[in-house]
Amino acid sequence: MKNILFIASEGVPFIKTGGLADVVGSLPKCVDKKFFDIRVMLPKYTCISQDMKDKMKYKTHFYMDFHWNNEYVGILESEVDGVHYYFIDNEMMFGGFRPYSGNVYDDIVKFAFFSKAALSAIPMLDFEPDLIHCHDWQTGLVPVYLKERFQDNPLFAKMKSVMTIHNLKFQGRWDVKDVRDITGLSGYFFTPDKLESYRDANLLKGGLVYADAITTVSDTYAEEIKTPFYGEGLDGLLKARSGDLRGIVNGIDYDEYDPSKDQYIVAPYSAKNFRKEKIKNKKALQKELGLEEDDKTMMIGIVSRLTDQKGFDLIAYVMDELCQDAVQIVVLGTGDEQYENMFKHFDWKYGNKVSANISYSEALSHKIYASCDAFLMPSMFEPCGLSQLMALRYGTVPIVRETGGLKDTVEPYNEFESSGTGFSFKNYNAHEMLATIRYAEKIYYDKRREWNKMIDRGMAADFSWHVSASKYQDMYDWLIGDKA
Ligand code: ADP
Ligand code: GLC
Repeated sequence: MKNILFIASEGVPFIKTGGLADVVGSLPKCVDKKFFDIRVMLPKYTCISQDMKDKMKYKTHFYMDFHWNNEYVGILESEVDGVHYYFIDNEMMFGGFRPYSGNVYDDIVKFAFFSKAALSAIPMLDFEPDLIHCHDWQTGLVPVYLKERFQDNPLFAKMKSVMTIHNLKFQGRWDVKDVRDITGLSGYFFTPDKLESYRDANLLKGGLVYADAITTVSDTYAEEIKTPFYGEGLDGLLKARSGDLRGIVNGIDYDEYDPSKDQYIVAPYSAKNFRKEKIKNKKALQKELGLEEDDKTMMIGIVSRLTDQKGFDLIAYVMDELCQDAVQIVVLGTGDEQYENMFKHFDWKYGNKVSANISYSEALSHKIYASCDAFLMPSMFEPCGLSQLMALRYGTVPIVRETGGLKDTVEPYNEFESSGTGFSFKNYNAHEMLATIRYAEKIYYDKRREWNKMIDRGMAADFSWHVSASKYQDMYDWLIGDKA
C-alpha cells in the first residue's frame, strides 16, 4: 500500500471557492484503493458550515514555534465517502468569513502556518505518507520545509513531494524580509534559484523548486506555462524543470454531477431521453428567474468566479450586440465588483433576457448546467476548467476559447464531418467570440438534429476521473518506487 497525503487549502465537501476544491474532493475517491491510500489535510476554517464541523473529531494537539510565537495546533479528523480527512485547527489563523482574506500578507501568514503545521502534525497521525501532494501556492512551502527542515526525523527522510499547479496566477508573493520573518527560513533560501523571484519572496516558486515532480491540470496548460504570456514570470523555471513537469487533465465527480439523479433539478434525464426531458428544466428555470417563458429560445449559461481570467471583458464588449439575438443569458457568480456590476446592469437593461445571479449557490449551479442549451466560457487562460466538463455531462454545449484545458476537453464542431462536442474560437477577441456564439445559434435554430447529435457525443465523452486517476497513480509509483 502506498500512502499519499494531499495538503490543500480547500476541498469538497468541507470548503469550496473554485475548482481546486472539486479536484481535492474527488480525485482521492477515485484511485485504486487496493494500492493507494490517499488522505487529505485541510485547514479547519471557522467559516466551514456547522454540519460539516459536526463530522470532525478531535484527535490531538501540540504547540509549534511560528512567527515568534508558540502557536496552538489542533488536529481533527473525519471520514467522508471512504476518504480520511485531517484538519489543522487554530482559530486565530483560520478565522474570517472566507478561506482567503484577499490581503496577501495575511494570507501568507495563514498558509505558512498551515504548511509548517501540516508537516509537524504527520508524526501524530498513525499514517505515514510516502508522498505529499501539494496544491497551489498556499502549500508551496511544504516541499521547502520538507527538504530542509524535517530531515532530522527519519520519518521524513524518504518522503517525496509533488506540486500541482491549478492556477499560476496566484503565487503568494511578498517582501523578502517579512517572509523570512514569518517562515523562519534563513537568507540562504531567498536567492533567485530558490524562493526569490523579481526581488520578492514567492511561495509557489519555493514549491516548484523543491518538489520532486510538478504537475498541472491539462496538457495544453503544461505547455502554455513555459511561455511568457501564460508563465506569470515563472516560465523560465518551468522550462528548466520541464523534464519533471507533466499535464494531467482533471476529471469531475460523476456521482455528484449526474443529470439522471441530480437532487437539485426538477426533471432528471439521461443521454437516452434528454431530447424530451431536459427542456422541462429550462422551463422551470425561466419561471424561477423571471425570464420570458419560451422554451424555444436558446439559453446560454455562465457559472464562474467573476475575475478577468474568465474572459468577461470580451462579454462586456459585445453584450449589447448579443442581446439583440434570440438568446437568454443566465449568469451565476461572484467576484470582482466591476463584473458583478456589468452583469447587474445588463440584467436591468434586458430584464426578461438576462438573469444575473450574483451569489454562490450549489443548487442554482446544477440547475444552470441542466437547463441551458449552451455554456459560455471564453477564458483568457484556463488551467483546466471543470465547468465545461459539467456542462458536457449535462448535455449543455460548451462555447469556449481554445486555451488550456478548454482546448483539451472541448472538441470543436465540424459540420462537414458531423464531429465535435462544442464550439471554440482561438483569439482573445470579442467579435471572434460573438461570431462563434452566432454560429452556435445558427446550428441550434436551423439544424436541431445536428445540435442534438453534438449533445449525444458530449454526453458520451468520459470525463470521470477514471483515466486521469491512473495517470496520478503511475506518477506516484514512479516517484515512490517499490516499497519493501
Ligand atoms: P476555477 O477553479 O478557476 O474557479 P473551474 O471551472 O475549474 O474554475 O471550477 C469552478 C467550480 O466552481 C465549478 O464546480 C463551478 O460549478 C463552481 N462555481 C463557480 N462559481 C460558482 C457559484 N457562484 N456558485 C456555485 N458554484 C460555483
Ligand atoms: C483552478 C483553475 C481551473 C482548474 C481548477 C482545478 O482554479 O482556474 O482551470 O480547473 O483550478 O484544477
